[in-house]
Amino acid sequence: MSKFKADALVFFGATGDLARKKIYPALHNLAKRGLLDMPVIGVANSGWSTELLRTRVREELMEHHSPDPTALAKLESKLSYIDGDYQAPTTFQAIRHALGDAEHPLHYLAIPPELFDDVGEGLGASGCAKGSRIVVEKPFGRDLASAKELNKILNKVFSESQIYRIDHYLGKEPVQNLIYFRFANPLIEPSWNRDHIESVQITMAEAFGVAGRGKFYEQAGAIRDVVQNHMLELIACLAMDCPKGCEHEDLRDQRGELLKTVRTLTPADVVRGQFKGYLDEPGVAPDSQIETFAAVRFYIDSERWDGVPFYVRVGKRLPVTATEVLVRFKRPDHPILDETVHSIDSYYRFRLSPEVVLAMGMAVKKPGELLVGEPLELEAHHMPPTEMEAYERLLGDAMAGDSTLFAREDAVEESWRVVDPILGSATPLHIYEPNITWGPEEVDKVMTPPGGWWNPEAKD
Ligand code: BG6
Repeated sequence: MSKFKADALVFFGATGDLARKKIYPALHNLAKRGLLDMPVIGVANSGWSTELLRTRVREELMEHHSPDPTALAKLESKLSYIDGDYQAPTTFQAIRHALGDAEHPLHYLAIPPELFDDVGEGLGASGCAKGSRIVVEKPFGRDLASAKELNKILNKVFSESQIYRIDHYLGKEPVQNLIYFRFANPLIEPSWNRDHIESVQITMAEAFGVAGRGKFYEQAGAIRDVVQNHMLELIACLAMDCPKGCEHEDLRDQRGELLKTVRTLTPADVVRGQFKGYLDEPGVAPDSQIETFAAVRFYIDSERWDGVPFYVRVGKRLPVTATEVLVRFKRPDHPILDETVHSIDSYYRFRLSPEVVLAMGMAVKKPGELLVGEPLELEAHHMPPTEMEAYERLLGDAMAGDSTLFAREDAVEESWRVVDPILGSATPLHIYEPNITWGPEEVDKVMTPPGGWWNPEAKD
């Protein structure tokens, strides 16, 4: 970890959707916690002014959040705006000027990856890159080759220790809790392996569609949008070995080591789907073959996980919006137990959103004369009302120079290596009925986990 704290924040793409939805609220929350004593410079090529940026930030926060008046005033007082073309040296000279005495700016690139090259070059040539850190948004590349190319581009100006690649799933409180829960409870670790676990499944279901992002989605599809990054990072958190120490790189080392052992996918491991009606979304090609759903089966080639399938199901316009992990245990075989025990699930269930739930499913004896079982789920909710938003946590960490929750070059490249053979139209596309099905029928035909899919419920 580099010791210095950032003394200025520059965010590129200041007028965009991501800035509006995620960065403005994160900045407000940082101001509220007293962590925003620095110039905050928004950059874009939209013809805005500092006044307009301040107004838009205020409007956005008033409309969708309940801003703290002092924090909002603080944020506004720190904000300024630079309008300019990312290819023009004058844009970067203006940034350098606005940075004043700042020696350690944090540059946040909330812009499409095709602009990284220009911005990197501009920051380097103007002296803005010196002593700085850079945060880059996903998607980091489109496949393994382009991710390598992007790393090369950024490395022309920044060293790996200066680069912070965002995967906001890593900044989520319940994802942090998965890791904590695994290693903090002596009950868990001895059974967390192929001897006891039958399968793991993750469902990331969204009841909404592409929500006006048709143009972006046409370049991505579900596998690039969330499987290559969020889902594989989740698998890494669920399956990695215990970090060897508490240095920031220790956790990244273990996630990276785990990803190296994830088997490269083949078309037989994937079912792709598209919801009926996707083609009518604005920005979508009339004959689009882009998937809005994917079911994927992963294997991890390691002693701990040999033969344990990790199923992932992600999709838009599914029946509910919820992300859940189900870790299902093998059923015991003992002469005193009756047949029913084989049909009763034994599992841990982690609901990561919208509510946070930890539940444990087990078999207990049914009251009565016979020794027969029945299912029981113990559920513990634990969602503190002041939960820190993922972006607030990640922005704060990047300013402090803590890279633990950011994706490292090796991890990003490994996850592209895993999905590379199944990208694009490598597998057929099946249509599914929106909001009433859990993806296309083919999923059940060719990819049913032992014990079946676990469909998260709308509300716990
Ligand atoms: C983003 C994807 O990275 O994650 C979106 O681009 C998806 O398509 C979103 O909806 C889900 O994130 P969250 O935090 O709302 O679960």
